[in-house]
Amino acid sequence: MIQKGLIFVNFHLILLLSLSCFVVDGHGKQTDKLQSLLTEKLQNRARFNTEPFYDQETEIFNEAQVYPQEGLKEEDKIEMLPGQPSINFDQYGGYVTVDKSAGRALYYYFAEAVNKKDTKPLLLWLNGGPGCSSIAYGAMEEHGPFRVYSDGKSLYRNPYAWNRVANVLYLESPAGVGFSYSNTTSDYANSGDRRTAMDNYVFLVNWLTRFPEFKTREFYISGESYAGHYVPQLAHLILQGNRIANRTIINLKGIIIGNAVINDETDQIGMYEYFWTHALISDETNYFIKKYCDFSPAATTESSLCLKGANEANTDINSINIYNIYAPLCFSNNVTVQPKKASVMNFDPCSDNYVYAYLNRPDVQKALHANVTKLDHDWEPCSDVINAWNDSPSTILPLLREAMNNGLRVWVFSGDIDARVPVTSTRSSLNKLELSVKKSWYPWFVKNEVGGYTFVYKGDITFATVRGSGHEVPSYQPERALTLIQYFLSGKRLPDGSSTS
Ligand SMILES: *[C@@H]1O[C@H](CO)[C@@H](O)[C@H](O)[C@H]1NC(C)=O
Ligand SMILES: *[C@@H]1O[C@H](CO)[C@@H](O)[C@H](O)[C@H]1NC(C)=O
Ligand SMILES: *[C@@H]1O[C@H](CO)[C@@H](O)[C@H](O)[C@H]1NC(C)=O
Ligand SMILES: *[C@@H]1O[C@H](CO)[C@@H](O)[C@H](O)[C@H]1NC(C)=O
Repeated sequence: MIQKGLIFVNFHLILLLSLSCFVVDGHGKQTDKLQSLLTEKLQNRARFNTEPFYDQETEIFNEAQVYPQEGLKEEDKIEMLPGQPSINFDQYGGYVTVDKSAGRALYYYFAEAVNKKDTKPLLLWLNGGPGCSSIAYGAMEEHGPFRVYSDGKSLYRNPYAWNRVANVLYLESPAGVGFSYSNTTSDYANSGDRRTAMDNYVFLVNWLTRFPEFKTREFYISGESYAGHYVPQLAHLILQGNRIANRTIINLKGIIIGNAVINDETDQIGMYEYFWTHALISDETNYFIKKYCDFSPAATTESSLCLKGANEANTDINSINIYNIYAPLCFSNNVTVQPKKASVMNFDPCSDNYVYAYLNRPDVQKALHANVTKLDHDWEPCSDVINAWNDSPSTILPLLREAMNNGLRVWVFSGDIDARVPVTSTRSSLNKLELSVKKSWYPWFVKNEVGGYTFVYKGDITFATVRGSGHEVPSYQPERALTLIQYFLSGKRLPDGSSTS
């Protein structure tokens, strides 16, 4: 099924893990893309633009980027999805043109809040990759209102859906991901952080014109994995756009990122540290990597002794799910004839198969108002058509600092059994900010059980782990994830034992 290879060609040394042989577990895909990118960045530093993300060309802040939206909201209303149970909220899906001359349009799915939608905040969710779909993961496998049964035809409710606490917008970005496309197909080869951020910004101002009731609503951006880049970069453009216009074009209040790529050097070091401290690699392998690998942005090549250690590590972790080191694997590549009994509390490792089958059905696409131009490729959870990535700063820490300095609420969370962008990486990366601690480390609770640990930096940045959760936090710990997002949105500290028992 689907997506197996690495899209970023031109590197001969697989320094880091490539999960391309890990085909039975579809869930490897989101970070296959990430691993390819990190490897590419390490091997081909010279051709890679890793410059920090400075101010963008101002043309995207031009009024001309706002296209007429009259009547489009009504057309986007989804009457009923095939196989859908009855619901108590409205859902929308459709395209927003972000570049008329190129013919570039991004697809969104929007689940309004189940109650008090007129006062609940607006929350955008972005998955990473780069090249992976927020509908594949965020909407259909993490915190969307539905999950897909194993027959690939019918849906069941997720009681921990984030639209219980917000109006949630899922965006497939950049063009080439999922149903999002460009009629100028050379755009796919020109993908990168900058273009993604600019298209996401133009998407937002147009979407808010289509849904004007959300224009002044409190707005938050969330995401995971490589969206550790997308989320702060989009926040940066929003701050810049508001500044240039000298008014609030987008009412951004905060950002939240999970198991997020934020600082290449510490992310890489922390990954191997996690492998070693979780009994996945030997002392010798750990020694070789620590002694001989140089993950700093200044390094140009890696020694053969470093590669020896890294290859050893790859072999050691190849047969487990590195995004949740204790999770079962999927040993099937298809849907089942009869739907299996399912529960959101027990994540099915074959979920990618079901979502793939469901979203490629013509009746589903019709109901979603997706694929209206009859694209020449299928819907994939991670893009097959984006075949290059041109820019990716080696750190986004300056943007976290900028967000904080502009009064945005900044939260960084970490599922603590992910080994790909593990908690060790995130903590070392955040330590680079050199902030002092305002509220020190404490366990936070959901119904008398520790949901994870948290502390708050002066500034403010809140860090929180989610206990027992892999890379896709709401897939593995839906209730803890809902508590996390609920406290984030309300601006309250995560509950300590005293307030819940
Ligand atoms: C892309 O091309 C198709 C076919 O000509 C057209 O219907 C569609 O509107 C174009 N998309 C955009 C975003 O302009
Ligand atoms: C920005 O807006 C404020 C209040 O609307 C106004 O007082 C100020 O002069 C404006 N600044 C610029 C540079 O236009
Ligand atoms: C997948 O399963 C469906 C339903 O059982 C069947 O119709 C289809 O042929 C199978 N596809 C593959 C590739 O095995
Ligand atoms: C779009 O529709 C065409 C024709 O039905 C189909 O072949 C293709 O797989 C679909 N692509 C996507 C991205 O949904």
